[in-house]
Amino acid sequence: MSVILGIETSCDETGVAVVADGSVVLANEVASQIDIHRAFGGVVPEIASREHTRIISQLVEKALDDAGLGDTPAARLDAVAATRGPGLMGSLLVGVSFAKALAYSWNRPFVPVHHIEGHLFSAFLGEPRPDFPFLALVVSGGHTQIIQCPRPHEYEILGTTRDDAVGESFDKVARLLGLSYPGGPSIQQAAEEGNPEAFQLPRAMTTVKGGLDFSYSGLKTAVLYAMQEGDVSVADMAASFQAAAVDVLLIKTKKAIKQTGAERLVLAGGVAANQQLRERLTGELDIEVFLPPFAYCIDNGAMIAAAAHSRLHHGLTGNLRTTAKPGLSL
Ligand code: KG4
Ligand code: ZN
Repeated sequence: MSVILGIETSCDETGVAVVADGSVVLANEVASQIDIHRAFGGVVPEIASREHTRIISQLVEKALDDAGLGDTPAARLDAVAATRGPGLMGSLLVGVSFAKALAYSWNRPFVPVHHIEGHLFSAFLGEPRPDFPFLALVVSGGHTQIIQCPRPHEYEILGTTRDDAVGESFDKVARLLGLSYPGGPSIQQAAEEGNPEAFQLPRAMTTVKGGLDFSYSGLKTAVLYAMQEGDVSVADMAASFQAAAVDVLLIKTKKAIKQTGAERLVLAGGVAANQQLRERLTGELDIEVFLPPFAYCIDNGAMIAAAAHSRLHHGLTGNLRTTAKPGLSL
C-alpha cells in the first residue's frame, strides 16, 4: 500500500489530502478563497499566494491528523506530491516549496504533478474506476480539452479552446448577469428557473468542418449583445447559456468518440460539477462514462495524490531542483 500526501495550490483553493493506493481518501482538506476574491470578480494572484502561505501549515497538520496515521504520520507516508503547474506562479510556489521541504526533511520522494493530470485522476477516487485507454473531456476555469489517454502519463490533446475556457465563460457570463463568482454554480442555480430555449445562442465551431477545437468567447459576446437589446430574464439567459455551453461539449465529445472509437470517457475539471453536463453525458453517450465524485471536481489535493500514486509507481518523481512552472504543458 502506498500513502501519499498531495498538495494543490495552483489557483484559489488550498487543497491538502492523504490518499492510500491512489484511490482511498484518508483525509481531504480544502480551504477555498472564493469569499476573499468575490469582491474583485475574479482571482487576485498576490492575495491568492498570501492566503496559501497563511493557511498551508495548518491544513497539512489537520490532514495528517485526520488521516489516522498514528503518532508518527511521516513514517507512514511514501511520498509528498504537489501541483507543479500550470497556474499562478506565486500560488504554485507555495505548494511546491512546502512539499519539497517536507519530502526532504522526511527523506521521501517529491512527486510533481501537472494540474490537468490531477483532474484526470480524480475519476480514480470514485467507483467504478476507469481503465486505460480512455478519452477525457477536461473542463475547468482554464482548460477545455479533449484528450486521448492511451496509457498512464501519455496524453494526446485532440482538441482545445482557441480562446476562453468553458469555466471561464461561465464566470464571465455570470458577471454580465450580475450573478456571484464563481459563475458555474450560480449560473446552474439561476438556470433551474429558466427556459433554455428563450434565447438562440451560438454553438461555435460545431459544423462538420469544426474539428475538435472549441471557441467560447463568441457565446459570451452573444449574451452581451442580447442583454443590450432590452430587459432579459436572468433565469432564461442563464438557462439558454448553460444549454449552449453544454451542447457544444456534447457535440465535440460525440465527434471525438466517433473519430477515435473510444470505449470509455472520463470527465474532469471544475465544470464536471455541472449537473446538466453530468446527466447529458451519462444519458446520451453509448460508451462507459466515468464521472469524478462531486467533491473532487473542483481543485483539491486528493486528485494530486491520486496522480502521484501512479507517477511514483512509474518512477516519475522529481527532486529538490524541480521548480514550479506556470506554463507547464501536459
Ligand atoms: O478546476 P477548477 O476548480 O479550477 C481550474 O483549474 O480552473 O474549475 C473552476 C471552474 C470555474 O470556472 C467555475 O465556474 C467552474 O469550474 N464550475 C462550474 C460549476 N462548478 C464550478 N461550472 C459549471 N457548473 C458548475 N456547477
Ligand atoms: Zn483545476
